[in-house]
This record gives sequence, C-alpha cells and structure tokens, in this order.
Amino acid sequence: MRKLLLITLILVSSVVLGQEYPYQNSELSIEERVDNLLSIMTLEEKVGQLVQVNFSKVLTGPPADDSDAFIRENIKKGKIGSVLNLVSAEQTYEAQKLVQEHTRLKIPLLMGLDVIHGHQTMFPVPIGLTASWDTGAMMLSAQVAAREAASQGVHWTFSPMVDISRDARWGRIMESGGEDPYLSSQVAAALVKGYQGDLSEVTTIAACAKHFAGYGFAEGGRDYNTTEISLNTLHNVVLPPFKAAVEAGVATIMNGYNDMNGRPVTANSYLQQDVLKDQWGFDGFVVSDWNSIGELMIHGFAEDKKHASSIAMNAGNDMDMMTYGYFNHLEELVKEGQVSEARLDESVRRVLRVKFRLGLFEDPYAYSNKKREKQELGSKENLAATKEVAKKTFVLLKNDSKLLPIKKELKNVALIGPLADHKDVALGNWRAKAITNSAVSIKEGLSGLLPKSTELRYAEGCALSTGNRGFLDQFEMNESDTTGFNEAIELAKNSELVVLALGEDCYQTGEGRSKVSIQIPEVQIELLEELVKVNSNVAVVLMGGRPLDITRIEALAPTILMTWLGGSEAGNAIAEVLIGEYNPSGKLPVSFPRSVGQEPLYYNRKSTGRPTGPDNKVNWSRYIDSPHDALYPFGFGLSYSDFEYADLELSSDKMKRGEEIEVKVNLVNTGSYDGEEVVQLYIRDHVSSMTRHVKELKGFQKVMVKAGETKGIVFKLSEKDLEFFSANQKWEAEPGKFSVMVGGNSRDLQELAFTLED
Ligand code: BGC
Repeated sequence: MRKLLLITLILVSSVVLGQEYPYQNSELSIEERVDNLLSIMTLEEKVGQLVQVNFSKVLTGPPADDSDAFIRENIKKGKIGSVLNLVSAEQTYEAQKLVQEHTRLKIPLLMGLDVIHGHQTMFPVPIGLTASWDTGAMMLSAQVAAREAASQGVHWTFSPMVDISRDARWGRIMESGGEDPYLSSQVAAALVKGYQGDLSEVTTIAACAKHFAGYGFAEGGRDYNTTEISLNTLHNVVLPPFKAAVEAGVATIMNGYNDMNGRPVTANSYLQQDVLKDQWGFDGFVVSDWNSIGELMIHGFAEDKKHASSIAMNAGNDMDMMTYGYFNHLEELVKEGQVSEARLDESVRRVLRVKFRLGLFEDPYAYSNKKREKQELGSKENLAATKEVAKKTFVLLKNDSKLLPIKKELKNVALIGPLADHKDVALGNWRAKAITNSAVSIKEGLSGLLPKSTELRYAEGCALSTGNRGFLDQFEMNESDTTGFNEAIELAKNSELVVLALGEDCYQTGEGRSKVSIQIPEVQIELLEELVKVNSNVAVVLMGGRPLDITRIEALAPTILMTWLGGSEAGNAIAEVLIGEYNPSGKLPVSFPRSVGQEPLYYNRKSTGRPTGPDNKVNWSRYIDSPHDALYPFGFGLSYSDFEYADLELSSDKMKRGEEIEVKVNLVNTGSYDGEEVVQLYIRDHVSSMTRHVKELKGFQKVMVKAGETKGIVFKLSEKDLEFFSANQKWEAEPGKFSVMVGGNSRDLQELAFTLED
C-alpha cells in the first residue's frame, strides 16, 4: 500500500515538473530513479547499458571488427552504453548527441579513458608518485588529471592500477603503487578521492581500481601470464588496496587478463561476487578488461563468445569492454534463461547508479565544454602542481662525497647523457593527451637555475635510441653506438662536476613491455665507465619506470638520484633538487635488486625454515653467487641532511584486545639542511596460524624536521593493525608476541616487542 502511494506520488510530481518519466526527476533519490528506469527499459535497452566499445582511432588493445559508422548506428539504437578513448569537448559532445537525439530513454553515454598519471599535464608515473609517500601530492595529481580530462568530455578514468607488483621484469610495475599492500592502499584511497571528490562536480571523474585481481603476479614477470596465488597471499597481499579503493568509494572496478589458480579472473565469481560485491558491499560496477571476455576462449575456458559472455556475466562481470559478447549474445542468453533477469538487472542497476552519480542525467553535455577545455589543458596552475609533486618523488640513493646539492662556488658543470636534454621520456608511457616532446628537459631546468657564475656545458654522450620510439611501435634502443663519447669525455675532463642523465626509455615500461634484463642500455653504462676515468665527481640522474638493476652503476658513481619518469615539469623539478632548492624526500616503493635473478624481490617475504644464517657452514636460504637482500631496500631514500632515530619506546609491552598502544621515537636531524623524512613503522607477528611476513609496513609519517631539531613521533597501534587473513579464513589478530620496528627504511630499523593478550 505504502509502495503504491509512493509510486503514485512520484508519478504525480514528475508530471507537475513536466518530465515524461520519474527517473528524470532529480528530486528523487538515485535508487528511486534507477528503479523507475529499470522498470521501463526493454531487454535490448538493458543489454545496451552493459556494452562498451572503442570509439576512436586510438587503440589500447586489439581491434574489433567494427567501424565508426557501425558504432554510431548502434549508439543511436541504444545498443551501446559506454565508449572509450573518445576525447575532446567537440567529439564527446557529438557522440552524446546521438543518444539524446535518437534514443527513447536518452540514457547518457559514459565515456572512459586511461588517464593514468595526468591527462595533458603529465605527472610522475604511478610508481614514482608512490615514492613521494605523500598522499596529499597523490590526491592533487588526480584532481588535476580529472579536471583536464573532464573538460574534454571524459567521465571515467581506468585508474588507479593497484596491482601489487613484486617483479621488476613486469612492464606494468610502472603503473602500480609498488610492492607493499599498506602503501598501495594509501595510494589507492588518495587517487580515488582525488579523481572522484564526491562525483557531483563536472571537474571530477569516476575512478576504476584495476585489475581485479592478481595481475601483478604474472609468472616470470611476463605480461598477461598465468598466476598462482594462494588464498593467504590473495587476502593478505593482493586484495587490501582494492578494499581501500572500495572504502574510499571507488565507482568502478576492472577485472583483468590473468588466469588465477586455473580460472581467468574475468570468470571468477569468488572475487567479483562473493568478496567484492557481497562481503565488501561494493555498489558500483565491474568492467571487463579490453576483450578479456573474448580471451576466455583463448584461455580454453569458453567455447565461443556466447559461452564466454554467459560465464563472465554469471561470475559478476557487469560491463563488457570490447568483446562485443554482451552486444551479440546477452539478450539471447537471458531469453534462454542462461543468465537470469535478476542478474541482468543487477548489472544495469550498477551502471545506471554511476551515471546518475556523475550527474549525467541532469546535463549529459556538461563535461564537454570547449571553454573549460581551453582554460584547463596544460594550464600554468596545472604545470605548477606537477612540478611540486614531481620533486617529492625523487629518491636519493647515494651521495657519498656529498656531490649534491651542486655547490654555488662551482665555475662549471658538465651535463651529459642521452636523457639530459630529452623532452619526451619523462612524460612516461600511458600518457593520455600529453604532447610529444613537451616535457621540460634537465638542461632547460638547470640552465634557468644555476648561478650566473656557474657555466653549464652540455654533451649528449650517446643517443637513447637508434630508431622508432612510440606507444605501439617497435622501438630500438641504442645499445652500442658510441658516437659522442669523445666529446663527452673531453667535457668531463675539464669540468668540476658531471651530472650524467641515464636510464630507460619510457616505452620500455607499460603494458606488454616486460623485460628479462632490467639494466639500462649497455652503451650508457660504458659512457659512465669512461667518464669516471677522467672525473670522479659524477652524479648520476636516473630515469625509469621500474626498479632497475643498477649494481654496475652503483659501483662506479658516487651519487645517484632516481627520478622515475617525472612528467611535464621533470626538468625543472630535477634542477631544483640538484641545486638544493628542494631537499630530496622520496623513498623507494619497490626493492631495487642486485640482479634480475633475484626477482620477484620484496621486503615483506616469509621467513623460510632456513633464513640466511651468519656463516656458510650449512645450507641456508640464499644464493651462492650473490647476497640475497636488495641493493636498495623498500622504503630507502637519503636526504641532503642526516636523520637519526633515538629512544624508541612503547607505552606498554602488553596490548589487550580493543586497546591501543603508543609507539614513540625521536627523530633527530643531525645534518645541516632542513628536510623531510618518512618515518616507517613495521610489525612482525612471531607465531601465527599461518606463516607471516618477516616485516609488514603498518604506518608511516612524512615529517619536516629543521636542521639540528628533534621531533617526537607518535604512532598508535591497535588490534586492527595486527589482523591478518588467518587459518580460520577470516581477518583476526591472534594473541602472542609482536615486534615493532621503526626507522627510515625497511632494513635499518630499531625494534621492541609486545604481547597481544586475550
Ligand atoms: C589494459 C587496461 C586498460 C584498457 C583500456 C587494457 O589493455 O589492460 O588497463 O584500462 O586496456 O585501454
């Protein structure tokens, strides 16, 4: 009776407002509007909402057998609910118009794009961004990216990628928040909040946490490869960042290409239905990866597209990206009862919810705004933001003879290297609408900042590549052409300091860019060898999108600054750090190995029954030809200043369930520069129902400490921080001994212990 009254009321108020249907009435709640819309949609219209196709010449996956004309026709018929890769205020407006002018219910198109680390103004690649350990900086990068993308009609980004990445060979480690679940969870939440705000503004866009789940565990680091992930590792390591994204309100989740424990994740109902939707209460929608439904056939898991679509749908996949499986077969599957109407309605409800939340029903054209597009793209404000963010991401790995910051008294500095005056590499891969060669180079940055009395001299030394560079092109790195060596050697011989910019091409990381060698090109190392013969003051500035094997560089160079792929303002940001205007504060979000043979390498490993012992007299878990630990561990990064940790203290050596203990430490800046330090807190659960990691990050604080100053740092540890997915297959803290470790990286830590009591 009550329901009937409500429906009558809704109908009456819609008529009064001059709207044909209640779902058009913004006074109603989103759920009421979705209910109404669902009740009047035909089967064909419902299926249309679950179809996403590429409506552009830009391909970010294998092409389908379609054409612009075909897509246009089907948008007009309401058979396509979302497109990707269409971008520009004008084009998105035109596409939206097809829906508004030709379809019965005028359900706006949802336009998606990979806005991964900036749109036109590029920010550091995600692994670099993570190295800032600064969630404010992360959020800012997403806000700017969202503003720029939104002005071009984009509603939805396929970011953040929150795949835990332990293997430096995997090209997509560049897109990730690194190897640690806690840090990645912070990244996930910050980026989701940054992109989305509360989703109600035309300057914010929907986010998509991907790839659900386990894609980062591709065997051998080879992209798309199979994954084997135990329930223990899945819950304790792989899933936490996704959970953090869901708790931050992420609008969508993308599944992936990998098969996991014998089942492709696109077909995994435990993940998509049981965990994500039922246990976590996620109310947005799941989109497949590009043709990942179609790939179920290639995995040998489905006979044909119809079968694949039925499997994906029944496993909780809501929207089909680029398989055309739902487009061609879902109607039939529902009619035959192979997919229930309730299941279909659930998916459609989820998609509509996101469209309503974005405000698209109020004004489907709001995002496509030529004026905003012009003001927003690459604006001064956005460039200033990326410079601020970039300088926080650089990690000073080594500064032995304090070559940096560059001393004001120097009469000259030689800037050498294939990346010293490069204007493209720093823009990174997955670069949305970045303008080729638009990054500020180090040479440009430094020439504006060095004192007038310091002469800046430049030589390339060797070229970066010998042929093509580009997103989908095959590219050829220069491995052996030494033309340019002599000029560089002469310059180094006669200069007081050499700044040598080396590294990977940005197109050596990213999707489909896995590598078996993670060293930089040989010719660049040879250049370094030649230069240190004539000048021992060589500061290496490294660029790259993965943890690199820099053992040979480390043996030669007294100073190394890792700058990742730092975005549009990289050169200015690097220059500010080189001259000491900004004191480096980044810390590694991934372990840098001694050699590729150690991969996958990560700090939060298990103990093993034979952890490496103090001597070689028994068989320990180790390598006979290399130490087994990292060259530079997770969390590592120096400053121009020096920090000491003193007086670690616990408020109690016992914790009762439901209570907290305080962890206090004094951080002393013993150097002569003001600087920031990332204070890291790790725990170890000594005896549990499942083996635990030797260390687990559970908190961090990035703090500014003036030269000579001491700051008291306090962390609170609660029972929640001690929980893990236990042998009982639930999150719980088990009583017993825990270690607490605090320090500036995952290796050099002070330690105390306490007991969790029942
Ligand atoms: C990638 C996704 C991406 C999608 C759309 C796929 O190849 O795996 O991460 O979002 O393409 O471009």
